[in-house]
Amino acid sequence: MEKPRAAITGVGAYTPEYILNNEELSRMVDTSDEWIMTRVGIKERHILKDKDKGSAYLGAKAVEDLLKKTGTKPEEVDMLICATVTADMHFPANAQIIADMVGIKNAFGFDLNAGCSGFVFGLVTVSQFIETGRYKKIVFVGAEKMSVITDYTDRTTCPLFGDAAAAVLVEPTFEEVGLMDHILRMDGSGRSYLYMKAGGSLNPPSIETVKNREHFIYQEGQQVFKNAVSRMADVSAEIMERNHLTADDIAWLVPHQANLRIIDATANRMGLDPAKVMINIQKYGNTTSATIPLCLYEWEDQLHKGDNLILSAFGAGFTWGTIYLKWAYNKK
Ligand code: UT7
Repeated sequence: MEKPRAAITGVGAYTPEYILNNEELSRMVDTSDEWIMTRVGIKERHILKDKDKGSAYLGAKAVEDLLKKTGTKPEEVDMLICATVTADMHFPANAQIIADMVGIKNAFGFDLNAGCSGFVFGLVTVSQFIETGRYKKIVFVGAEKMSVITDYTDRTTCPLFGDAAAAVLVEPTFEEVGLMDHILRMDGSGRSYLYMKAGGSLNPPSIETVKNREHFIYQEGQQVFKNAVSRMADVSAEIMERNHLTADDIAWLVPHQANLRIIDATANRMGLDPAKVMINIQKYGNTTSATIPLCLYEWEDQLHKGDNLILSAFGAGFTWGTIYLKWAYNKK
């Protein structure tokens, strides 16, 4: 029997209200709107200020929006996966917490940590469950409260990140749409360029680790930048070539939003007109696993059934990857 393909059939999102703009950041550290805009392309980012709410709250709000928009009842969902590097706690997983918050009771699920490649790694993972024919409605959410691991005394990292969550519904289809191809890669030798030094089993929390500010994002920006530019562009060009796609065939590039210069390099390598690139980094900054679905959410009105999309990301690990997706619906 023919295998089903996995198709995204809806998108939901949630961004917290508070906006931290470059002017406010310039009063916190020695930086400027001019530096951040020219080097990264970020104007503002949303921050979840509530101390009693974590990334699962953001994820639950996005999933609620998704279920409402798609007319899906929580009890119909048979799997929920959350991509995150900022889970509410080491365990249990955000997937269980979010399911409880939104009333999903007939499902199983888990968290997936692939840094900023969380959405592409996760969407491919979800698609494999769909392709077995056994799972019919999978909710996949990227949820991040990056502000809690951002050091607001470190000017090299604090302008970069924001908080957000976005979710997709993935269902089987026998039409010529959905996930067509993917390339996923990792190289753990890059792990020391972007990571959190303490808090795990290797270097557990202590008074020293707190004093040394080791529970925040540590990044050697230039090393990450160099790798991101070449590796994200390489796989994006490779997936086009092996699927015989020209720039004209592609409706949209949906890139991870870490730095406008990385996005431009990828689009250039693909020979794409800049008008075909989804960019909202100026409004949200880098929201890790939420960037790509947040783009899909904001561009949903402009997407048409059959459109060829290339999703591409690079992140901590190192991890990187790309997905060739044919959009599955016209928004009603
Ligand atoms: O999503 C996960 C993957 N992450 C990424 O893809 C991030 C990749 N890296 C980057 O996007 C860039 O490397 C950064 C945006 C993080 C930094 O940009 P850069 O052009 O690589 O700057 P740099 O680190 O080479 O720093 C250049 C200068 C330095 O000053 P000197 O040594 O030349 O005097 C920094 O101290 O800019 C200085 N600088 C700043 N100045 C004003 C660094 N941060 C700031 C700042 N404001 N916020």
